Amino acid sequence: MLILLSACGSGATPKSNPGGGSASSSVDPAKTATAHDQVPEAEAAFASLLVNKDHPLPEGYKPDDLVYPDVKFTFNEKIEKRMMRKPAADALEELFAAAERDDVPLAGVSAYRSHERQKQVFEAYVRKDGEEKARTYSAYPGTSEHETGLAIDVTVADGKCAANDCFAGTPEAEWLAKHAHEFGFIIRYLEGKEDITGYKYEPWHLRYVGPAAAETIYTHGWTLEEYEEATPVSAPAGGRQT
Ligand code: DAL
Ligand code: ZN
Repeated sequence: MLILLSACGSGATPKSNPGGGSASSSVDPAKTATAHDQVPEAEAAFASLLVNKDHPLPEGYKPDDLVYPDVKFTFNEKIEKRMMRKPAADALEELFAAAERDDVPLAGVSAYRSHERQKQVFEAYVRKDGEEKARTYSAYPGTSEHETGLAIDVTVADGKCAANDCFAGTPEAEWLAKHAHEFGFIIRYLEGKEDITGYKYEPWHLRYVGPAAAETIYTHGWTLEEYEEATPVSAPAGGRQT
């Protein structure tokens, strides 16, 4: 059985591509369909939620189950960017505990961002680097996974290399690449797959998809675009439109 999310509100129809990126790939659709078959229904909403330059969130989308994961962050304030959707937050707590046991303690940098906040972040990068360059590493507002509450940027425990290329190759980054899927997360923007994801390599950006999909994606070395290719879905679940 192929599991598909039901459409939710006006955002069900993919809009035009605000970033000009590509989401094409060369996955055998039969293989992807098999992968979807193995996802428990409770996890399907996470695995099926594709947000990228071609699949923006519906206007006014806000997750309705945001909580504060009990993990270390690079800052102490109890503010919005500490939040994640409950299933992702629970899984993150387990991931951080396992990383600590393996001597690669982590710190959160930035998790949930409201649409307004993503707008501020994106505009700041445009001012710094110009729009063309900014779009290679920062999502146009409405197309960021951070707006879903299912994504988080992490770094080493002392906060160095936060959302920076120097995180690549650290023991922490290597541990994440090897173990994040065990907790239902994927490294969302893979090295060498920039033409598929539309973004440069981000070893620090974790995206919760649920353990079954994460295992499949990890095993095949796929991006979420490749995983979704046979059953493209643009409608998010677990949120409401305001
Ligand atoms: N850095 C990722 C692409 C974002 O802005 O959501
Ligand atoms: Zn990120």
